[in-house]
Amino acid sequence: MEHDLDSCAVSRDQPQSAEEVAAGLREAGYLPGESAALVSYLAARLGKPILVEGPAGVGKTELARALSTYLDRRLVRLQCYEGLDEAKALYEWNYRKQLLRIQAGGAQGGWDEVQDDIFSEEFLLERPLMQAIAGTEPVVLLIDEIDKTDQEFEAMLLELLSDFQITIPELGQISATTMPIVVLTSNNSRELTEALKRRCLYLWLDYPEMEREMEIVHLHAPDLPEALTRRLVEVVRMVRALDLKKPPSIAETIDWARTLLLMGAEDIDRETFEQSMSIIVKHRTDIDLVAERVGMKLGAPTQAG
Ligand SMILES: Nc1ncnc2c1ncn2[C@@H]1O[C@H](COP(=O)(O)OP(=O)(O)O)[C@@H](O)[C@H]1O
Ligand SMILES: [Mg+2]
Repeated sequence: MEHDLDSCAVSRDQPQSAEEVAAGLREAGYLPGESAALVSYLAARLGKPILVEGPAGVGKTELARALSTYLDRRLVRLQCYEGLDEAKALYEWNYRKQLLRIQAGGAQGGWDEVQDDIFSEEFLLERPLMQAIAGTEPVVLLIDEIDKTDQEFEAMLLELLSDFQITIPELGQISATTMPIVVLTSNNSRELTEALKRRCLYLWLDYPEMEREMEIVHLHAPDLPEALTRRLVEVVRMVRALDLKKPPSIAETIDWARTLLLMGAEDIDRETFEQSMSIIVKHRTDIDLVAERVGMKLGAPTQAG
């Protein structure tokens, strides 16, 4: 009995199979492909970071969210951008508060005392990477769109991911007590370093197969009739097959499904398509191409007969 309880307590963080992870992610509202479930399972078991690459809007960020729900861990998110530095990613001193402390305590106590005081944890601003490492609760750490940072930042991260340790000169070393599950995402806007890839399990997410995309749409727009859902996904796939600047992603398929519901559309004929295609196609040149190639294939509006 006791043994049973024990295995129960660890089962979430130590899933027994990729199928178990797939079921857990589904329960969290995420329909994973086979490889997403497998890589997530391995990451949980091996304690290795996952690097998820793929086009925009295919569920990279959402995977991290779903993992945190499924594993019952808090999600700590670091959104990357050009120029992101350690002060915003790791920690920085709260200068304003330090200054106030210096002014307030000017009279009593020597400088040494003040100095010890203002370089204590109370004056530290913890940024996401630090929160993930210093926290007492296990977390899922999402480092989103890592390709937007520069290689210098990547190198800093690499060090952090290899020993889960941060050294603050004034405070000493802080080591992780609970291992975060790390998910890094990249939209592929630049090639990541080999060193980073070597440290991670790799997951390539692409547009899903027909049936899974229908399921995803159904999850987000359950009121859309099945026949129309199928039609919608078929048309989206037709659009994706064209050579577009920006093919529609899952996010856009979902938006379109919701739009059709609001429009009260019963079918996707040419008129409906032309009215709503800006939901899935968002570049001038793409719009022209799609209107010509896909619009033609769809039936003419009934009244124009
Ligand atoms: N496998 C999936 N299951 C459920 N919803 C999904 C799935 N993949 C994508 N989505 C939905 O698509 C949208 C875009 O996903 P997101 O993770 O933001 O894309 P990315 O980070 O790859 O750009 C989200 O609203 C998410 O709910
Ligand atoms: Mg994202």
